[in-house]
Amino acid sequence: MRLSIAAIAQVALTGALVHAASTFSPARPPAIPLAVRSPYVNTWLAVGKDGGNGGYLAGEWAQSWSQHTNGWVGLIRVDGTPYTWMGAAANGPAAVDQTEFSYTSTRSNFIMNVGGKVGMNITFMSPVTPNDLKRQSLTFSYLDVAVHSLDGSTHNVEIYTDVSGEWASGDDSAIIQWDYNTANGVAYHTIARQQQNEMAEDREQAAWGTWYYSTADGEGLTYQSGIDTDVRAAFAKNGVLANSKDTNFRAVNNQWPVFGFTKKLGAVGGSSVSTVFSIGLTQDNAVNFLGQGSDLTKVPALWKSYFSNSLDAMTFFYNDYATSASLATDLDNRVASDSTAAAGQDYLTITSLSVRQTFGALQFCGTDSAPLVFLKEISSNSDIQTVDVMFPSMPLIIYTNPKLLAYLMDPLYINQENGHYPNKNAIHDLGTFPNAKGYPAGNDELMPLEECGNMIIMTLAYAQRTGDTAYLNTHYKLLKQWAAYLVDDSLVPANQISTDDFAGSLANQTNLAIKGIIGLRAMSEIANMTGNSDDEKSFGDTASSYLTQWQSLGINQGANPPHTTLSYGDNDSHGLLYNLYANSLLGFGTSFVPQSVYDMQSAFYPTVALEYGVPLDTRHSWVKSDWMLFAAATSSSDTRDMFIKKLANWINVTPTNRPLTDLYDGNSGDFPGITFNARPVVGGHFALLALPK
Ligand SMILES: *[C@@H]1O[C@H](CO)[C@@H](O)[C@H](O)[C@H]1NC(C)=O
Ligand SMILES: *[C@@H]1O[C@H](CO)[C@@H](O)[C@H](O)[C@H]1NC(C)=O
Ligand SMILES: *[C@@H]1O[C@H](CO)[C@@H](O)[C@H](O)[C@H]1NC(C)=O
Ligand SMILES: *[C@@H]1O[C@H](CO)[C@@H](O)[C@H](O)[C@H]1NC(C)=O
Repeated sequence: MRLSIAAIAQVALTGALVHAASTFSPARPPAIPLAVRSPYVNTWLAVGKDGGNGGYLAGEWAQSWSQHTNGWVGLIRVDGTPYTWMGAAANGPAAVDQTEFSYTSTRSNFIMNVGGKVGMNITFMSPVTPNDLKRQSLTFSYLDVAVHSLDGSTHNVEIYTDVSGEWASGDDSAIIQWDYNTANGVAYHTIARQQQNEMAEDREQAAWGTWYYSTADGEGLTYQSGIDTDVRAAFAKNGVLANSKDTNFRAVNNQWPVFGFTKKLGAVGGSSVSTVFSIGLTQDNAVNFLGQGSDLTKVPALWKSYFSNSLDAMTFFYNDYATSASLATDLDNRVASDSTAAAGQDYLTITSLSVRQTFGALQFCGTDSAPLVFLKEISSNSDIQTVDVMFPSMPLIIYTNPKLLAYLMDPLYINQENGHYPNKNAIHDLGTFPNAKGYPAGNDELMPLEECGNMIIMTLAYAQRTGDTAYLNTHYKLLKQWAAYLVDDSLVPANQISTDDFAGSLANQTNLAIKGIIGLRAMSEIANMTGNSDDEKSFGDTASSYLTQWQSLGINQGANPPHTTLSYGDNDSHGLLYNLYANSLLGFGTSFVPQSVYDMQSAFYPTVALEYGVPLDTRHSWVKSDWMLFAAATSSSDTRDMFIKKLANWINVTPTNRPLTDLYDGNSGDFPGITFNARPVVGGHFALLALPK
């Protein structure tokens, strides 16, 4: 049985009235990451008032980014009295009092007060290990439930948690099957769709693969699968489960089967007792890909390269908690110290919320010696390997491990170098996740100038950061072909869309032109690094000449203050000149684009700022958070801080209730009629930290 949304809101409201308010630190995000590891392990708690309950773990269902409930319940008994600490189970016991919420790059942490007797420290940790592919390949997440006495007495404590079949299928009428077993010290439930539809999705959740919900095997553990209300009621009443399996395999929504664990902690005193759970998905093949050869091939998930079967992968992950937690702390600390040093706490509020979301859109595939990373353009089409989504995501990739940039671009190069794309420009994407079928007919979304510029800029950024000039040689032919496109189209761009396709198509876009021109300058650098002196000179001369002309075409010098226009000659228009960022990223500095352009834009932006940010351009009051931080990275410190302060404040107050949208209205802070969410482009928030040292 399910509560209606209205009923859930009612419970949440009642809860909020009864209980003291929680603090939220460093901010109250629009949605809280719970288990966010990959496009299909992507579960959140809605917070913003568009549909969230304000950030309380008890009283609301966890859900996928696509807003499908992923039933996840937590109960606790203290001296025989049951309470709810997670989820919105119908007729469940009263909620614990949530007093604190905080987040870091890898963790969401809730502090609960249970009847004044017991404190709970509940941590959802989704590891991010960009330099450790074995660990990064495991699409699992941890839940750590620590309990201690608050009042100086010892208390008898049992904890309970379950997951529903909703994790294993976005279609609630699909039949699932399940099992329970133990291995390598780990007790686990498996849940899977009975009919495995490989490479298919329901409601953006995978229709194939096996889910594991796991904890340590040992004394005090009981388990049960069965009807949701039965299993939960058994715990609430007795504090133990029946150690029994429901054998009636059925649809997700047919008497909602759930998969529960209880742990009897016994007498709990002042020192904290912790129980760890893990949730995750294993798939043998993760993506279909048109690469080498003329047919689609199935690409294995990368974990297959390190483990002989999914059980080994799962038990490795579970038993790795201590190491994984310490690696997570290293990353948390690195992001914290670098972000605060670069631009203070507001910047850390933004960056630390963006890490799991960015990596959560990536699926690691291939083999240890030839990894391929596939990106899902979550929420806006679900395209796979979208070049102009990879481009804004790039700063976090460069900051953590620039080699990943090659693993992301490789599928694009492999597809195009094997003759699967007929056009002269760079391809826009490879299809719809998880099927990278490419566009042999050349009928992809046409964003030619955008993608030619993006590919050249990303490829040079990769080679500069890694020293891998061989990569430039390998792909020189295509790079030069794309540069030729830029020679033809970058100075006077034809009527076309840019990455901001929602804003419409336009000729002579000033910001798009500068991307192409910097792309030509980048091609000159690539030619230099590969010993192609003629190309170096030719592309370099064209870039310089175009840049000079661009300054008279794209700048309204007569305005007060002067600024670049949205499109040539449209004097009253303006827009974020976020593509200037590439000039800094690639280290060209003011030897290419003059300092006066940087200074002019930096002085201009504050004059057109709205409550929650600087609008993308004069067509709408819409704000793009990734592009704002690209602009921030090329601004004076005052203007930079203005961008950052507005974005950090927006995160804390936005009514949006889904994983961080990068597009919102600058006046209301709400969705502008388009509900982007959970997109990896928030990796662009690391723009300041990806600049060359
Ligand atoms: C809660 O646990 C996390 C680690 O899981 C730790 O970093 C944090 O300090 C703890 N908080 C409290 C208040 O004990
Ligand atoms: C684009 O700009 C060029 C250079 O100013 C101009 O000649 C051309 O007419 C413009 N195109 C459009 C469609 O406005
Ligand atoms: C690359 O640039 C450097 C520095 O300007 C120059 O010394 C070198 O000759 C160039 N290499 C080629 C192959 O043009
Ligand atoms: C636009 O502004 C420039 C000065 O920056 C001026 O020369 C030009 O005439 C203006 N164009 C229009 C159409 O007003």
